[in-house]
Amino acid sequence: MDKNKLKILGFAGSLRLGSYNKALLRAAVDLVPDDMHLEIFDLEGIPPFNQDTEQNMPDKVKEFKTKIREADGILIASPEYNYSVPGVLKNAIDWASRPYGDNPFDGKPIAIMSASVGMLGGARAQYHLRQMFVFLNMYPINRPEVIVPFAQDKFDANGKLLDYNTKKFLGQLLENLANWTRKLVA
Ligand SMILES: Cc1cc2nc3c(=O)[nH]c(=O)nc-3n(C[C@H](O)[C@H](O)[C@H](O)COP(=O)(O)O)c2cc1C
Repeated sequence: MDKNKLKILGFAGSLRLGSYNKALLRAAVDLVPDDMHLEIFDLEGIPPFNQDTEQNMPDKVKEFKTKIREADGILIASPEYNYSVPGVLKNAIDWASRPYGDNPFDGKPIAIMSASVGMLGGARAQYHLRQMFVFLNMYPINRPEVIVPFAQDKFDANGKLLDYNTKKFLGQLLENLANWTRKLVA
């Protein structure tokens, strides 16, 4: 990989094989600007957080933290569960932020997006994520807000993104993430 490229780590708040949010991340891989490399990390295998083991973390969590630390920026695609962030995603963020004082998210730029089968596209989960970024000391992109409602109509049976507007906004989000990251790492 070209070492002048921005390294972005992407992960989804769904473990589901046919996840629309995972599919959105895969679409992002195809749409990244030339100066960006997007690596996708699967949260599968991260156990429930237990503070008793935060000084001796499971290997999967260590790997996650290392990937975050090595990345110039972060991209999250998540569904909304019960009007908020899925436990799987919150759990992974909680692990990564510990032990106190060893937060690899610190100071990093982040872009978020959400896909849902509902009409609000997971927007409420996005706002709960933004609240976490205050404590994590992350710098989120404000716009465009990539919110994908009725996701079942926007992807084909293989999880390929078909919708023109979603592609357009996703491309713009990635462009803004690249520009924002360049400013922050300058
Ligand atoms: C436990 C649970 C809670 C859900 N709550 C919401 C919700 O609050 N809002 C919403 O728009 N969709 C909700 N959904 C539907 C999800 O949008 C839908 O399952 C979506 O496909 C999940 O994302 P994924 O395809 O990436 O797995 C919920 C689904 C589950 C399994």
